[in-house]
Amino acid sequence: MSEPRLEIKNLSRRFAETTAVDDVSIELQPGQVTCLLGPSGCGKSTTLRMIAGVEEQQSGEILVDGALICNSKHIVPPELRNIGMMFQDFALFPHLSVLENVAFGLSGTKADKRNRAELLLDRVDLNGYGSKMPHQLSGGEQQRVALARAVAPKPKIMLLDEPFSGLDDRLRDGIRDETLKVLREDGAAVLMVTHDPSEAMKMADEIALMRGGRIIQSGAPYTIYNSPIDREAAAFFSDINLIQTVVKGALANTPFGEFFAPGHPDGTELDIVIRPQHIRIDFDRSGHGPIPTDAMGQAAHGVVCRARFLGQNSLVDFELDEGAILTASVPSVFLPKLGTPFWLLAPRKNCYVFPKLI
Ligand SMILES: Nc1ncnc2c1ncn2[C@@H]1O[C@H](COP(=O)(O)OP(=O)(O)OP(=O)(O)O)[C@@H](O)[C@H]1O
Ligand SMILES: [Mg+2]
Repeated sequence: MSEPRLEIKNLSRRFAETTAVDDVSIELQPGQVTCLLGPSGCGKSTTLRMIAGVEEQQSGEILVDGALICNSKHIVPPELRNIGMMFQDFALFPHLSVLENVAFGLSGTKADKRNRAELLLDRVDLNGYGSKMPHQLSGGEQQRVALARAVAPKPKIMLLDEPFSGLDDRLRDGIRDETLKVLREDGAAVLMVTHDPSEAMKMADEIALMRGGRIIQSGAPYTIYNSPIDREAAAFFSDINLIQTVVKGALANTPFGEFFAPGHPDGTELDIVIRPQHIRIDFDRSGHGPIPTDAMGQAAHGVVCRARFLGQNSLVDFELDEGAILTASVPSVFLPKLGTPFWLLAPRKNCYVFPKLI
C-alpha cells in the first residue's frame, strides 16, 4: 500500500470533565473515503476540527504525506495545511455571488477559475445559479454551494462533517455520489462524518466506528458489519436479537442448540446476538424439522406472534416453544398469518457470542 496521505496518531482532547477525543489514530489513503461513524457526542466533529487545525489537540500528532503538521511543539496553521473542509456550520460569503463563492480559493486564469467553478456547480445540480447571491438560495442550495466551494480547489485531504444531512432524500443520494466521485477522481483522501450506518456502508471504503471519544473498531463495511467487536457495535448497524445464556461445562445452551464457549468458566453470562436478516425460516409442514447441520446448529420451533409489512421486507416475530421472542426479517413476498408454526435456523457464522454487557 502507498504512503498514507493523512496519518493521525494518538490524538486526544479534553474539555473540562469531558474527554471528547481519546487516543484516536486513523490513516487515510489518496482516493479513498473513510467514514467516521458514531452516535451524537462521541467526538467526531472534534476529531475533524483538530485535523483542520481549528481546535487544538492536547496530545498526539498529525502527518500529511509523511510530513509532520502538528504535535505538542510544532503547529502548521489551518490555512497552510491544504486540507479542505465542509463543516456542520458552514457559511457562504454573503457579498459574493454563487460563482464567486465557489471560485474564491482557486488559482489560475479568470477563465480557468470560472470553468472549474461552473463544473462543480453542475456536479451539485446548480447549473445556471452562478450569478445569484447567497440570500436568494434555499438552505439546501446554499449547502450545495458550500460543498462545491470546498471541493473546487482539489484539496489533498477533504474533511466532510455531515455535509449531506440538510438535503432532501431525492437530492441527497445524487449530490453525495457526484461529490465523492469528484473527490476520488482528484485523488483526495476523504474523511467523512456521519451517524447513519447505512450511509457509511454505501459510501465508505473504510469505516471507523467511534464511541465515547475512542475508535472501537475499524475496517471495510463488510467486515465491520459481519464481525462486530461487541454487542453495541452489532446493534449500531441493525436491530438485533439477543439471547442471554450461561456457560456450563464450556457449553452455552440456546434455542438453537449448544454453543461452544471455550475459555469461559462455568457461570459466565453470555450475550448471543443474531441479526433479524440472518434468521432463516422454514414452514413446519409435517412436524419434522429441517435437517440441522454443524454450520446451522439446531432448529428452534415457534409460532408467528406479530408480522409487520415494511415494503422491501417484513419483520416477523416468533414466540418460541420455550417462550423467548425472536424477530426475523424476511422477503415481503409473503406475510405469514399469526399462529403459523415455523422452524427457525441461525447459521453459526452469523451468531455473535460476547461476554454479557454490564
Ligand atoms: N468547545 C467545547 N467545549 C466543551 N465541550 C465540548 C466542546 N466541543 C465539544 N464538546 C464536547 O465534546 C464531546 C464531543 O463533541 P463533538 O462535537 O465532537 O461530537 P460529535 O460526535 O460531532 O456529535 P454530533 O453527531 O452531535 O455532531 C461532546 O460531549 C461535547 O459536548
Ligand atoms: Mg458533530
